[in-house]
Amino acid sequence: MKIDILTIFPHMFDNIFNESIIKRAIDSNKVEINIVDFREFSNDPHKKVDDTPYGGGAGMVLAPGPIFDCVEKLRTPESKVILLTPDGEQYKQKMAYKYSKEKHLILICGHYEGFDDRIRTLADAEISIGDYVLTGGEIPAMVLVDSIIRLIPGVINEQSHIEDSFNDNYLLDYPTYTKPREYRGMKVPEVLLSGDHAKIAAWRQEQSIKKTKERRPDLLQ
Ligand code: ADE
Repeated sequence: MKIDILTIFPHMFDNIFNESIIKRAIDSNKVEINIVDFREFSNDPHKKVDDTPYGGGAGMVLAPGPIFDCVEKLRTPESKVILLTPDGEQYKQKMAYKYSKEKHLILICGHYEGFDDRIRTLADAEISIGDYVLTGGEIPAMVLVDSIIRLIPGVINEQSHIEDSFNDNYLLDYPTYTKPREYRGMKVPEVLLSGDHAKIAAWRQEQSIKKTKERRPDLLQ
């Protein structure tokens, strides 16, 4: 998979993909990530990419020109263009699964007080990572990239994401423990020490349902 991230703050991405699972996925050519500074596509002598809003109002608005030119240069018939914006569709695990099967993603990070509305016509999808407003689409783009890459076949052990919270069964994860058996008076549940795999599976399922009922009853609907 190839992922192009369009931003005017390329340095925000300097280290984020250089660690752990994402780094391994890049090193083994399962994914290629390009950080594209769309300021380079500005025709302005000062590489300006924004302007004042028509009709008045505070702040500056990202102009359509540089983003259109940049997307049109990168896009192929196989590309999916995603615009990160707080008024987009709320991001969910099932969307991460869907995008993990794509060949090419182009992520557009909005910034400043907003972007020219015509930029939306470039996008196949508009996505929000939650009901809060960030300073730009860079952190949301990182969230998408991380959640998508781990689902590309061979990036992590498949069993570990089949058991993830928020998969199709919409249950939160069950509690897990490691050594020591007792820590500060807190004991690992006996059933996990029993070696009885059927019993352990049943306990985990029960714990998942219990936790989901308590914390996220909305997921059980
Ligand atoms: N840009 C600013 N806030 C955002 C959010 N919550 N999701 C996606 N893009 C954003």
